[in-house]
Amino acid sequence: FAPKILTGYSILLTAGPTREAIDPVRYISNHSSGKMGFAIAKAAADMGANVSLVSGPVNLATPAGVNRIDVTSTKDMLDAVMAEVDNHSIFIGCAAVADYRVAKVADEKIKKSSSDMQLALVRNPDILATVASHTPRPFTIGFAAETQDVERYAKDKLVRKNLDMIAANDVSSSELGFNADSNALKVIWAKGQQDLPATDKHTLAKQLLELIAEQIHILKDD
Ligand code: C5P
Repeated sequence: FAPKILTGYSILLTAGPTREAIDPVRYISNHSSGKMGFAIAKAAADMGANVSLVSGPVNLATPAGVNRIDVTSTKDMLDAVMAEVDNHSIFIGCAAVADYRVAKVADEKIKKSSSDMQLALVRNPDILATVASHTPRPFTIGFAAETQDVERYAKDKLVRKNLDMIAANDVSSSELGFNADSNALKVIWAKGQQDLPATDKHTLAKQLLELIAEQIHILKDD
């Protein structure tokens, strides 16, 4: 039983990896499992929120009561998020978005030859930063997966992307983070920070949402 502290709130989330096509059979992606984002979606729904989950390709069941929108590429994810953003007061960017896409996707399968080949890549839009600069702006939370100097990079990202909160994790350990069932987060906002020690992703999701609810209530009372 979860206290319904998010009743009346509408949360938009991204989760999982994005996939960038090279040709009809190949793509560029990453190891994100989507577990953290799906755990947040489930916990948010359990806490009474109305939840929309924009998910890249993952192998996970949709949590009960969650509105799931499936996408493949970063561009698709951005379009789905921007189509939904005005209906939500909280945005959580949990997806491991591909930072680059292939400059020119081949129409047909690329044939191998005896020589080496090069792939030209172009920068993808930043979904989180796009949401954070949108009006009206939802309470915006980002994630930062880092392998070193976690706090410094996370604080930098909080300011640079104009976020309300950032949840940083150290992905240099294989027991935590990306594909694992456990994670630990360092949560940072303008006026404070809190360490959420290693635990299963469902417990962590609940703790993160409690921090978000607390901050939103403080902002409301200001
Ligand atoms: O800059 P970096 O990729 O480390 O930032 C991570 C955060 O930004 C995550 O919350 C991720 O979901 C979001 N992001 C995004 N669009 C991108 C790249 C990252 O929304 N193109």
